[in-house]
Amino acid sequence: MIMADDAVQKLITSFWNQVAPGYDEPANVAAPGTAAYADWREAIGSVLPGSPAEVLDVGTGTGFVARIAAELGHRVTGIDLSEGMLARARAATGAEASVAYRVGDAVAPPFPATSFDAVISRSVLWTLRKPGQAFRNWFTLLRQAGQVAVIYGLADRPPPQSAAPEQRAGLFQRTYTDETRAALTAMYLDDHGPLIELAEAAGFADVTVRPLTRLTGWENSPGSALPYALVGYRPVEPGTARG
Ligand SMILES: C[S@@+](CC[C@H](N)C(=O)[O-])C[C@H]1O[C@@H](n2cnc3c(N)ncnc32)[C@H](O)[C@@H]1O
Repeated sequence: MIMADDAVQKLITSFWNQVAPGYDEPANVAAPGTAAYADWREAIGSVLPGSPAEVLDVGTGTGFVARIAAELGHRVTGIDLSEGMLARARAATGAEASVAYRVGDAVAPPFPATSFDAVISRSVLWTLRKPGQAFRNWFTLLRQAGQVAVIYGLADRPPPQSAAPEQRAGLFQRTYTDETRAALTAMYLDDHGPLIELAEAAGFADVTVRPLTRLTGWENSPGSALPYALVGYRPVEPGTARG
C-alpha cells in the first residue's frame, strides 16, 4: 500500500514526539564536556563555513548540532516537525546561545530563498520523505557559495524485513513499517553514489563525501561503522555579486 505523503510524515512526527523525552542519551548525542562532544564539535566545525555564518539545522531534534554550531560562533536556526523534540531543544539551549527554533519541514523549510550560508542535517536523511526535493529546496535557501552538509550513515547489509502487523510490538516497528519505508528512499543507503547524484541534480557543485573517522561507532544504521558528511556548494554565478 502506498501511503499519502502527509500520512507518512504524521506517523514519523508522532514517533519522534513519543521518543523525545528519552532521546538525549549517550547512544544518540554526546554530553558537553566529554571527549566525544569535542570530536563532534571538531567534525561539525569541519563541514561548516567560517563563523559567523547563518546556519540552518534541518531536523534539529533536541538541538545537538544547532548548539554546537552556535558554540562555534554561528547564528543558527533549528527546525523540526516534532514539537516534543523542539521542546527539549529549547529547554537545553541557554538564552545566551544564538539559536532560534521553530516548527518546519526539512523537505521544504519555511524561509525565503538565499536566507542561509549553510544548511546542515545529522541523522535525518534516513527518515526523510522526498530527499531529492529536500536537496533542491536547500539549494534555493543558500546564498551563492553557501554549503550543504549532510551527516549520515551507510548500511552494509540489506534492510531487515519489518515485522508482520501482528508482530509490530515496538514503537519503531509500528512506525517504520514497509509502507513507511517505501516513502523513505534514503533510509538504507549502501553506497554514497545515489546521494551524490541527488545533490548534483539539485545543482550543488564540488560535492565530496568525507568519512568522519573520529566518530567511528556513532551511526546506528545497520552495519554502519561511522558517519559520513556529504558537502556541496551552491556555485557563484559568473558576473554576479555573492549573496
Ligand atoms: C534521529 S533524529 C536526529 C535529530 C538531530 N539532528 C540530532 O542529530 O540529534 C531525527 C529528527 O528528524 C526529525 N524529522 C523527521 N522528519 C522530518 C521532517 N520532514 N522535517 C523536519 N524534521 C523531521 C525528527 O522529528 C527527529 O527530530
